Amino acid sequence: MRIRTLIITFAMALVAAAGARAADPAEGQAIAQRWCASCHLVSPEQERAMDGVPSFQAIAARGDLTGETLEAFLTDPHPVMPDMALTREEIADLTAYIDGLAE
Ligand code: HEC
Repeated sequence: MRIRTLIITFAMALVAAAGARAADPAEGQAIAQRWCASCHLVSPEQERAMDGVPSFQAIAARGDLTGETLEAFLTDPHPVMPDMALTREEIADLTAYIDGLAE
């Protein structure tokens, strides 16, 4: 009985820890490459993207990108950009990744 309670408590702590994990720029890069690279230059290595679309580096260099602005932007996308229905976590990862490009 007590062991079962312990296991359940441990499992719940694990789930909570997973939910509250810190934003992961590596994950953000994977998301960017999957969902954004067809239009944006998402990394310095990428050579081709759509004309007239700001690169993620240019966006990063403006320095005004936060989780909130990106989230607001992605939940109300610009006309040419598809609604990708990203989760808050994915947006946080993306923000961490794009922020890192400014360095
Ligand atoms: C189908 C093409 C397309 C895709 C896919 C796309 N974008 Fe865009 N994005 C654009 C265009 C075009 C603009 C610039 C025009 C505008 O702002 O309306 C833009 C602009 C932006 C901006 C700048 C907004 C500003 O304040 O100037 C951000 C940030 C952005 N995109 C993020 C993303 C992210 C993150 C993804 C992937 C999850 C993504 N985009 C995927 C086409 C796209």
